[in-house]
Amino acid sequence: MLYRPYRPEDFAALYAIEEACFQPPLRFSRAYMQRLVRSSSAATWVAEDGGQMAGFAILDWTGEADAISAYIQTIEVAPEKRRLRIGSELMQRAEQSARAAGATLIWLHVDAENAGAIRLYEAHGYRREGREANYYPRGRAALVYAKSLPGPRL
Ligand SMILES: CC(C)(COP(=O)(O)OP(=O)(O)OC[C@H]1O[C@@H](n2cnc3c(N)ncnc32)[C@H](O)[C@@H]1OP(=O)(O)O)[C@@H](O)C(=O)NCCC(=O)NCCS
Repeated sequence: MLYRPYRPEDFAALYAIEEACFQPPLRFSRAYMQRLVRSSSAATWVAEDGGQMAGFAILDWTGEADAISAYIQTIEVAPEKRRLRIGSELMQRAEQSARAAGATLIWLHVDAENAGAIRLYEAHGYRREGREANYYPRGRAALVYAKSLPGPRL
């Protein structure tokens, strides 16, 4: 498995995974996804297996100087490639990008019913910080998870 930064020509394969992972109304639109992957304050990592995209992760960040926080927009693995630690590897690379951007905190929303993703985040040291009712369409609740990122060793 090759892990590498996103390239513009990856978009069709990336969006095909989005379509395999999420049904409307939970699915990100093409336009929203394009904005994310093109943003200068975001990092998109791709997992590639024999030239085929197996998954991706998108992280972005906000804030200034010593108060930068990073946000995991999404981590998605093609259904036939799950439980092979691809999601875990993508998460580690997203965290590297968060550190490189100077973030001291990384956080995310996850569907309260998405038990697999919740397990993944908890296994990576994310702590539940809250719950937002009606965060997703059709009244679905989100859980908020966060993790502190240690600063660089001086
Ligand atoms: C969530 C997702 C990214 C996990 O990717 P993955 O490559 O299968 O995850 P990993 O193989 O790295 O799993 C690592 C650990 O997370 C937990 N985990 C992952 N998926 C799980 C599942 N479906 N059920 C229970 N635990 C799960 C397990 O503890 C697993 O370790 P184990 O396989 O040794 O038991 C993948 O299921 C996916 O793409 N889901 C659809 C999209 C989605 O919901 N993304 C999250 C958006 S917030």
